[in-house]
Amino acid sequence: MSTTDLSFAATSLPAVALSFMNEVHHEELNLVHELLAQLDAEQTDESVNKAANEAISAQLAQWLAHTQAHFERENFLMQTYHFFAYPLHAAEHELALQQLSAVQSAWEQSTDRATLRAYIQTWRNWLQQHISTMDFVTAQFLSQFPIPNNLKEIDQLREHEDC
Ligand SMILES: [Fe+2]
Ligand SMILES: [Fe+2]
Repeated sequence: MSTTDLSFAATSLPAVALSFMNEVHHEELNLVHELLAQLDAEQTDESVNKAANEAISAQLAQWLAHTQAHFERENFLMQTYHFFAYPLHAAEHELALQQLSAVQSAWEQSTDRATLRAYIQTWRNWLQQHISTMDFVTAQFLSQFPIPNNLKEIDQLREHEDC
């Protein structure tokens, strides 16, 4: 698949059977789209560029936190309802999170925009593939259970479970 094919429009993401999952995917895509816009707005003035890099770091941290919550929520539901492919799906999450963490560390070391931009294209392809396979089947499975179709309530259940 070409890395330039995929758009950052919400409509370009595959839809799954649970709307709260789609909502999270759209949020994540928007977050990364914003990051891409920040990367493209390169400044020649050094002090302005330093501030821009700090804004990129903050956006990257927000992306990582959003991804963590996104994956933990899906993992929690898969475990709660004993989804047969949980280990496989959770392993994809684990790997993706490790990569994103490594990319964040590399950015903090080098502030190399081209590297971060290239990773975003790889990630965009990964997201499409992950949603259309793992998330699609998972949502199909989970949709037979009475799961609250709103993020806040699911996160409350998750917090309750952690106690
Ligand atoms: Fe997902
Ligand atoms: Fe997933």
